[in-house]
Amino acid sequence: LDNGLALKPTMGWLHWERFMCNTDCDNDPDNCISERLFMQMADVMVKEGWKEAGYEYICIDDCWPSTHRDAQGRLQADPKRFPGGIKKLADYVHSKGLKLGIYADVGKYTCAGYPGSLGYYETDAQTFADWDVDLLKFDGCYMDWTLLGEGYINMSKALNKTGRSILYSCEWPLYEWPHRQPNYTAIRETCNHWRNFNDVYDSWSSLKSILDWTASHQDVIAPSAGPGGWNDPDMLVIGNFGLSHDQQESQMALWTIMAAPLLMSNDLRNICPRSKELLQNQHIIDISQDPLGKQGYLSAKVFSFEVWERPLSKNRLAIAVLNKQEIGSPRGFAIRAVPGWKICNPQCNVTQILPQYKEMGVQTPQSKMMVSINPSGTALLTVTPISSDFKMQKL
Ligand code: GLA
Repeated sequence: LDNGLALKPTMGWLHWERFMCNTDCDNDPDNCISERLFMQMADVMVKEGWKEAGYEYICIDDCWPSTHRDAQGRLQADPKRFPGGIKKLADYVHSKGLKLGIYADVGKYTCAGYPGSLGYYETDAQTFADWDVDLLKFDGCYMDWTLLGEGYINMSKALNKTGRSILYSCEWPLYEWPHRQPNYTAIRETCNHWRNFNDVYDSWSSLKSILDWTASHQDVIAPSAGPGGWNDPDMLVIGNFGLSHDQQESQMALWTIMAAPLLMSNDLRNICPRSKELLQNQHIIDISQDPLGKQGYLSAKVFSFEVWERPLSKNRLAIAVLNKQEIGSPRGFAIRAVPGWKICNPQCNVTQILPQYKEMGVQTPQSKMMVSINPSGTALLTVTPISSDFKMQKL
């Protein structure tokens, strides 16, 4: 969507995967969906280096509203859990130098059964603008699928009409795929990012299903990604319960290769140092935010390795090699076997970023360089070509 936003994949935090629809503030005050949760997360984002690392949006998902609209037909936050209201929360988040996201639904109800926006697009867009909200995640439950496109387009127009810059995150293709192949040109014109596939869970099998879906549809979806509009494979679940550290590295590497929004869903108040270090790794974030803005793709499958590549600015290339053999020991992979290795001609500079940072130095097309990759882990590298012209200049 050409609204000047999401020129690079969005970075931030979104409550859904980790906190879901927990509304029980009496028994679980620390984890229920309440203004307190978002204020605490905003505090930590500033204090613990998240903001500095690039994470900017703090996003509310489903279950924030009251079950009824107000007398003027406007959505209102649940008064018990958000006593200050969303405008005050937005002011708080802005005072920390962060941005606030909110959630609504194109249909009659949200997925969790709260009031949907059908029939209220202009009212709701204006309400969010009046509250100084910076991002809208617009879900697609309880909607006749033949009206999905129209609904998403009308909300996009309604947001634009408010005059406020509101990043627009859609789930249009996810709900259209069961019926027909979505029109990605129209989706890119309408949304800043869009979910294509099932909700992420805190498990390696969930991540594998997302990667498999993405790889098998990459010819359809990858070309539509670029500054202003991105495919969204759903939240980062790094720092939760279900992934080994190698699998967390795989998610970080592959989401970066896919030019995905980096929206974490975890508890930043209580996260292990290794997960934090991984999520804040500047070498990886630099690849994610590369100015060329091209989505990467699966380029080869060999001996139960998957090779993924993402073209970067200045003719550089990011390479992720995922070891899909979930038995046995770390296995070696010869980097020369990567299809994109042809950019290493006559020479290139290779840097390994995961699992450890290591300058691998100048390599040639005949290079014997190997990387060792743990089961369900990933090696992430960047390759910078050294052209013969450059060598001439140096001489
Ligand atoms: C759908 C979306 C999720 C989340 C829930 C909330 O399942 O895909 O990301 O927003 O609804 O109910």
